[in-house]
Amino acid sequence: MASLVTPAVVAYLAGLSRLPHPQLDVVAREGRAEGLPLVMPETGALLHALVRLTRARRVLEIGTAIGYSALWMATALPDDGQLLSLERDPARAARARAHAKAAGHEARVNVMAGDAARFLHKIAGPFDLIFQDGDKPGYLPMLDRLAAFLPPGGVLVTDNVLWSGSVVPGMAPLEDRDPADVAAIAAYNEHLVHDDRFYTVWLPVGDGVAVSTKGQGTEVRSTGVRSTGVRSAEVRSTEVRSAEVRSTEVRSTGGSKHGGSKHGGFEARMESMSERLKEFREFREKMNARILESGNLEIKRFFALDSRAYEDGALPVKTKELLGLVASLVLRCDDCVTYHIVRCREEGVTREEFLETFNVALVVGGSITIPHLRRAVATLDEVEELR
Ligand SMILES: C[S@@+](CC[C@H](N)C(=O)[O-])C[C@H]1O[C@@H](n2cnc3c(N)ncnc32)[C@H](O)[C@@H]1O
Repeated sequence: MASLVTPAVVAYLAGLSRLPHPQLDVVAREGRAEGLPLVMPETGALLHALVRLTRARRVLEIGTAIGYSALWMATALPDDGQLLSLERDPARAARARAHAKAAGHEARVNVMAGDAARFLHKIAGPFDLIFQDGDKPGYLPMLDRLAAFLPPGGVLVTDNVLWSGSVVPGMAPLEDRDPADVAAIAAYNEHLVHDDRFYTVWLPVGDGVAVSTKGQGTEVRSTGVRSTGVRSAEVRSTEVRSAEVRSTEVRSTGGSKHGGSKHGGFEARMESMSERLKEFREFREKMNARILESGNLEIKRFFALDSRAYEDGALPVKTKELLGLVASLVLRCDDCVTYHIVRCREEGVTREEFLETFNVALVVGGSITIPHLRRAVATLDEVEELR
């Protein structure tokens, strides 16, 4: 991949950077020998720094290849951190697992083989940081799901936003670039400018990296987008309180259910998140991965069918998740109720909407559902603490 910065500058900066793990050199050499499109080392270093800066504990990656960028991020995670990485090529996924193991990081790296477009509907957030490096036409269709995974202040990092300059007006597209990819990246970049959920900065690092921070009580208004590609954005802060002050406040109230500020930083929210919800999410993801890795085609088909049933269609995702919630309450599956409450919350369901939905389930299911309704309200209280 051609560098966008002069080779002399790249070489000089490379000489200044320190590899967090020697296995990175092994993976990079392997990738180069096979011509695999791994991130450039400077992009890896940026990812490593971002994971540290955001104190991310849960990271999601789309497009593992043989685990180079995954290793850059995993080496920045704390001991209890987790990286979930999705790779549609099972052979590459297996090699990525082997590299993580060779680096001693297999406990914190979970590589799932399969198409992210499907998997994203099977996994639950939140993720503190997401790295998008999958197929370029998939960037925009996946964006809503990825945005829902991120808590306020969460970071979405997208690679290849310059595509070796092919998307830059006045620069000739490289001959080997598929015009569909060029168009997809240009559309994605243009979309991000106007996407009020994020504030995005585009960096000429590696092949171009977009760093998008999800709003945190701030409103981002795009203004003055000009055809030359010069953009400006006005950020109106509705809450001018530093993350440090917020997390101190939460700690001083003991991070209790009702004492903790719902505007606290992500770390504080994770502290206030109940162990039960954390364990539920981790167990569910781990076991779904185990089940899918077992390779039984019928089970895989059923999982895929289940995912597709909740995708956007004539009914929007939010409505489908609410239907799933009613069915789960009536059928008295507490795990399913928890899952749908989390998903509904990600889709923006309000407390009033939840209560009306619970009422429909109660009317249909009768008094036998009341113990499940109690647990559903407790789960809703827990989930609301996260926002
Ligand atoms: C650019 S490479 C990833 C490089 C990797 N992030 C690194 O730097 O080490 C893209 C990888 O994403 C995988 N991929 C593309 N689209 C995908 C999707 N929808 N779901 C899962 N994997 C995908 C491809 O098979 C390929 O291995």
